[in-house]
Amino acid sequence: MELESVMVTGANRGIGLEFVRQLVNLPKPPRFVFATYRDRNTVEALKDIRESTKETQVLLIKMDVRKPEMIESARKIVEDMVGDRGLNLLINNSGVLIWQGFPEVTAEDMLFHFTTNTVGPVMVFKEMLPLLQKSAARQTSGMSVSRAAVLNISSEGGSLGKLVEDTPKRLLSIISYRTSKTALNMAMRVAALTIKDQGILVVNICPGWVKTDMGTDEGALEVSESVGAMMNTLSQVNESHHGAFLNRNGETIPF
Ligand SMILES: NC(=O)c1ccc[n+]([C@@H]2O[C@H](COP(=O)([O-])OP(=O)(O)OC[C@H]3O[C@@H](n4cnc5c(N)ncnc54)[C@H](OP(=O)(O)O)[C@@H]3O)[C@@H](O)[C@H]2O)c1
Repeated sequence: MELESVMVTGANRGIGLEFVRQLVNLPKPPRFVFATYRDRNTVEALKDIRESTKETQVLLIKMDVRKPEMIESARKIVEDMVGDRGLNLLINNSGVLIWQGFPEVTAEDMLFHFTTNTVGPVMVFKEMLPLLQKSAARQTSGMSVSRAAVLNISSEGGSLGKLVEDTPKRLLSIISYRTSKTALNMAMRVAALTIKDQGILVVNICPGWVKTDMGTDEGALEVSESVGAMMNTLSQVNESHHGAFLNRNGETIPF
């Protein structure tokens, strides 16, 4: 896998932060990593990575995926740096999860998850599309992360096929989160099929249950283990995975 430029959303903690850490430690690290955050007070770990990294320029960009003007200014910053070479890889990682089941769920809760977990990633993809197209245009055939790609961090919780009758009640108490990830998968599959001739690979992936603020200390996986597996899968995905929904090891998850 040879990456020139990568944007990671929600990069100040959890899975996003670990992606930045593992990207700059690749044998051939990217030239640019654009790491987005929302609050200046939460970027210490990102700054540490930036200071200790020689081969990669780590740029910290303030961006809330719910704010179109911030997405646009982030695109301008990325564009200024990458120029005609475009953006290699977008990792749509940011996300929210609030425990709320049925019938307590409110319209506000559903809309909050939908705007953050579904609309946000689609709008970021839309804004970065011209930059991804530039990167894709530098090769003439095939699909790979080294050419141009979008990786959407989804969740098995959004799988209709995996939701069975004996799913524990506790795991049903994230109705808005589940719905927003199902919608993310659909939106990204539609986008993938729409642009399938442009050489930009689009993949949805579930990281597993990971020890982060969202996944809690009870998570089954260390964040390094989950991101390591996803990095390995990233290096292997090709046109046969375009628009697919995969687990961290690259196996198909039913929509
Ligand atoms: N952990 C798991 O077990 C698990 C399982 C399946 C899927 N996932 C998915 O993996 C992704 C990362 O999760 P995580 O476990 O690393 O969660 P996390 O530790 O809670 O981190 C979430 C990240 O998303 C950012 N974010 C939230 N709302 C945002 C917004 N409106 N605009 C921009 N950034 C925003 C947060 O920024 P702030 O610090 O500013 O809030 C933070 O950087 C999510 O999409 C999640 O759904 C996680």
